[in-house]
Amino acid sequence: MSVITQPTDLLRAQDPQMADILAGERQRQAGTLQLSAAENFTSSAVLATLGSALANKYAEGYPGARHHGGCEYADLAERTAVERAKALFGAEHANVQPHSGSSAVLAAYAALLRPGDTVLAMGLPYGGHLTHGSPANLSGRWFDFVGYGVDPATGLIDYRQVQRLARAHRPKAIVCGSISYPRHPEYSAFREIADEVGAHLIVDAAHPIGLVAGGAAPSPVPYADIVCATTHKVLRGPRGGMLLCGTEYAERVDRAVFPFTQGGAQMHTIAAKAVAFGEAARPAYTTYAHRVVAHARVLAGALQEHGFTVTTGGTDTHLITADPAPLGVDGPTARGRLAAAGIVLDTCALPYGDQRGVRLGTAAVTTQGMGEAEMVTIAALFTAALAGDGVKTRKEVGELTMAFPPYGE
Ligand SMILES: Cc1ncc(COP(=O)(O)O)c(C=O)c1O
Repeated sequence: MSVITQPTDLLRAQDPQMADILAGERQRQAGTLQLSAAENFTSSAVLATLGSALANKYAEGYPGARHHGGCEYADLAERTAVERAKALFGAEHANVQPHSGSSAVLAAYAALLRPGDTVLAMGLPYGGHLTHGSPANLSGRWFDFVGYGVDPATGLIDYRQVQRLARAHRPKAIVCGSISYPRHPEYSAFREIADEVGAHLIVDAAHPIGLVAGGAAPSPVPYADIVCATTHKVLRGPRGGMLLCGTEYAERVDRAVFPFTQGGAQMHTIAAKAVAFGEAARPAYTTYAHRVVAHARVLAGALQEHGFTVTTGGTDTHLITADPAPLGVDGPTARGRLAAAGIVLDTCALPYGDQRGVRLGTAAVTTQGMGEAEMVTIAALFTAALAGDGVKTRKEVGELTMAFPPYGE
């Protein structure tokens, strides 16, 4: 992988400033611990596809119905991506054009809703995404969002509250999905509630979709009217989004993406999505997805032993939400001290009170080849970094990452 992630001699000769920036980012990724739950290291095949000739191709429309000429290979690439996505997720229809997870969610709304419609989604203070009704996002301005929460004692979705709110507000759609919920949602319960009040069910599976691909999480496809997803988290593809649905919604979904919310498709990214779907269909990926979950469980348990409060008491996924308050710091302070020690993660809302905690995930470190022993080491590094032992911890983080280079030597 090192060849294509190193700035090429050509780039260095032409633009040394940018070559230095790219080399710096590569070194940052390789020399620090990547524990953001949203990130991963793609294969060199995915990266190579992103840098292929398709990056220069314009292809507005869909295969066989493009506004631009010369789309024969673009069409082949998109058809391949669609067929692989359908096979991987057992879906009748796939749209692989959304530029991002947010674009996919907004297209799902465009397919099913009208401005002013009521939507029931996880409230932002509990882990809803910006596209689930934030006033700073188009979703919160154009739709009337009602938020459900989680039980403050258990951190688990309170399905009775979801049902109560659905009965009271009669939403046009219910959104199931979160940026920080570490457990499997009960898709059948959401479906039942949606059916009872005549609502559409949209599952925003941005986080779990990679585990679904590897058989390490239940699939929302049989339950949702539309599944929105990202392709760059556990799934290990290029940055982007996709939509899955039944034949019934296929046309509305396609029109909602192009021409309603997007223009020309990014063909190099679509081709790279196809490469990632192909990789995810292999047995090695199934093993990987199960290891990601096993590692998250070990890391969550070790963090608890070190005094962290882990929401819901653990995890079923790649994702852990933890409160470092018992160690005397809040989430933002913890993130700063960990960053100084070379440990990269995010802050997030906690299901109780106003405090922020930390959100971390095991997708990237598992791709690097780390195992359960390293998860125990990482938890100990957390505690040392939070205790103010930044310099020594930084050295140990450097040794650990050197043993598991994400881009080869
Ligand atoms: C639940 C959820 N929905 C949507 C998104 C948006 O994805 P993107 O950042 O690709 O727009 C995210 C991103 O993390 C997410 O977690």
